[in-house]
Amino acid sequence: MVDLLLELFRQNMYFVTLWTALLLINGYFAMEPVIIVHGGAGDIPQSRVKGKFDGVKVAVIAGHKVLLQGGSALDAVEAAVVSMEEDENFNAGYGSVLNLRGEVAMEASIMRGEDLNSGAVTLVKEFRNPISIAHKVLTDSPHSFLGGEGAKLFALEKGFSTVPPESLISENAKNALEEFLQHGEFGRTEIGVKNEGGVGTVGAVAIDKHGHIAVATSTGGMSGKAVGRIGDTPLIGSGTYADDNVGGVSTTGHGESILKYCLAHSIIKLMENGSDANTATKEAVTGMTNRLNNTAGAITLSKNGDVGIYFSSTRMSWAYIKENKLFYGIEHNEVIADDYAP
Ligand code: GLY
Repeated sequence: MVDLLLELFRQNMYFVTLWTALLLINGYFAMEPVIIVHGGAGDIPQSRVKGKFDGVKVAVIAGHKVLLQGGSALDAVEAAVVSMEEDENFNAGYGSVLNLRGEVAMEASIMRGEDLNSGAVTLVKEFRNPISIAHKVLTDSPHSFLGGEGAKLFALEKGFSTVPPESLISENAKNALEEFLQHGEFGRTEIGVKNEGGVGTVGAVAIDKHGHIAVATSTGGMSGKAVGRIGDTPLIGSGTYADDNVGGVSTTGHGESILKYCLAHSIIKLMENGSDANTATKEAVTGMTNRLNNTAGAITLSKNGDVGIYFSSTRMSWAYIKENKLFYGIEHNEVIADDYAP
């Protein structure tokens, strides 16, 4: 009997020791979760700077909380983007810019770097958070990209509630369309050169403690766009890309140029060939602008959590949390750092 008890003790101690060692190893090798967001690139007027700063900070904290609670990178980027879709300061969800008919027609995409699975929606008119529908496409649909009526049917099937389309229209968006109709030209950014009412596409890139990367991007497109126009944001490789072996990218700016240049994937390719996140982001955005004469911006995380930020437009709001600091900026070469205690 004593022998049996001693044996049980030895076995239990063995398992306890092994279990403790595994926990320590897991903790030691767990990555620091990192999340970066952008609130759009363009000719953002001074009057909109504070709203952008406030919004990107709230969004990055929302995503970071998910990561700290052990949530996945995919859930974190969705939370960050939902926060900006709810905020009128951004061109996504409520506050989206309007097409030529005065309607909101939103687009979003999300991608998981672990298995390259993705979900995207376009021409969404009656739902408040297109990014959540895109996430559902990723997890629950045999397809990757649903548009218009099909996206609506899928969302209803999955339990999303519709909202009146007018409830997504902000005063700023109406003013921006009126302004567009007066000058009638698309600017060099998604919001138009003269467009004081313009706001920006939103995006988030995160890496969780397991080293998994996810990216989400959401937009209302460009003011005065044709009915049925689809831009870069829902296109995997243009607006969004994530690959655990390399990194993740979300882009913003002139949609037709970004999609021709496959901007997000161009940055990934440069990193795959040895460039660091910052160099790759700058090189690809500059390359697109030189080739196509339109502007854009991008945020990038490498698989090691290194950050890349670059924009060829006048301004781009961004924020990220890393090593207990919240960094943010909107002007070229501007980096503001606040202590951040979750
Ligand atoms: N980048 C947003 C758009 O042009 O649709």
